[in-house]
Amino acid sequence: TSSCAVQLGLKKADTDLSGPPIAEPPILSAMFGQSSVEDAQDWPQRRELLKKALIENVYGPYPHGLKGKLVAHNVIDEAFADGRGRLEEYQVQVGENGPKFWIGLAIPNAASKEQPAPMIVAQSFCQNSAALHDERLHDPENGGVCGGGGIMASIIKWVFGEYIEGPPINDVLDRGYAYATIYSTEIAADSETSAYIGIEKIAAETSSENAPVGVLSVWAAGFGWALDVLDQDLRLDANRTVGWGHSRQGKAVLWAAANDARLEAVIAHQSGTGGATLTKSLNGESVKKITDSYPYWFNDRFASYSEREEESPIDQHFLIALAAPRPVFLGNSWNDVWSDPNGAFRAAQGADPAYKLLGKNGLVQTGLQDTDITSGELVFQISKGRHGIRAQDWTDFLSFLDAHFLLSEN
Ligand code: GCU
Repeated sequence: TSSCAVQLGLKKADTDLSGPPIAEPPILSAMFGQSSVEDAQDWPQRRELLKKALIENVYGPYPHGLKGKLVAHNVIDEAFADGRGRLEEYQVQVGENGPKFWIGLAIPNAASKEQPAPMIVAQSFCQNSAALHDERLHDPENGGVCGGGGIMASIIKWVFGEYIEGPPINDVLDRGYAYATIYSTEIAADSETSAYIGIEKIAAETSSENAPVGVLSVWAAGFGWALDVLDQDLRLDANRTVGWGHSRQGKAVLWAAANDARLEAVIAHQSGTGGATLTKSLNGESVKKITDSYPYWFNDRFASYSEREEESPIDQHFLIALAAPRPVFLGNSWNDVWSDPNGAFRAAQGADPAYKLLGKNGLVQTGLQDTDITSGELVFQISKGRHGIRAQDWTDFLSFLDAHFLLSEN
């Protein structure tokens, strides 16, 4: 079927932006009983409206008000990555009786209280020991899906790219960034049978209005629970923190940035449906596909738009706009039509008015093929290949961070 061909990466993203769908409704127009936005002063109120619409129509409540507490801190290697930095780990407890999870942390040598390092906080498909290639890091009790160097590890890398497990850590440290990695399924499982157990554990810790119903809200909040602990570490710059996520974690990181101002920038790579791409776009993954396979990611209202996407009163440009005016990197690949680069570009166009309203350059690119990833704060990148993380992607992530984030005044 054509859906199969799309998932296998046999189709190439369409560059044509002339037709529908467009990002509707326009984020600054009159909507839901609120009049149109005239200037930057109106933005905070509009922001709340967009967020509420996403809670109601896509993700369900975000577990605000819960804190991550320090449980343990281990120094693992003082000469990590051939002496480039230190390898450490933190264990975090969510609330009083919520889940515990580990953060694997690589810190460049130069980081100090006087000169704290900017930090990439990542959620990963792979357990921490695989993401940072060090067996001494704690893994969750149920192990993890990556690493081990066997045939499976090779297949995973061949399919999803050489950096699917973790970043080129030497480059990251050489460029002055600290890297913190979380295995999100340690916070709440990524399977229909177990996810609800994790969601309910978090719900039990929160007020009913903040009780999550979907796992994306829980994973998203995981960034914040990690920051509750990492921000106490004075070698890390709490004012230069970027959230990073690929695919399902790309969805989570955008939703995290919408809810947590401590994320100063976002890299959402191939986040697709339920992430940066328009729900009403007919390319790539449909609401039916995603909610049949992963009903526990979202609330029930989102699933109800299955095969009637056009009836949703909102779209995902709301999500990108909620990150404004912060730097946002939307990563794509030409043969990853499943994640719908065309729909993501249109969503970025739809979010751009928020950046302009707030006095920023926003999206300066005029088409998918534009390669300017340093002039605007809202960046659309597209690389060769299929779904996965490859060398070019990390080159681009780091260039984006250097231009918009490391050197920014914040
Ligand atoms: C599946 C899913 C996508 C998701 C992706 C991933 O393909 O359909 O929505 O983004 O997995 O997380 O890699």
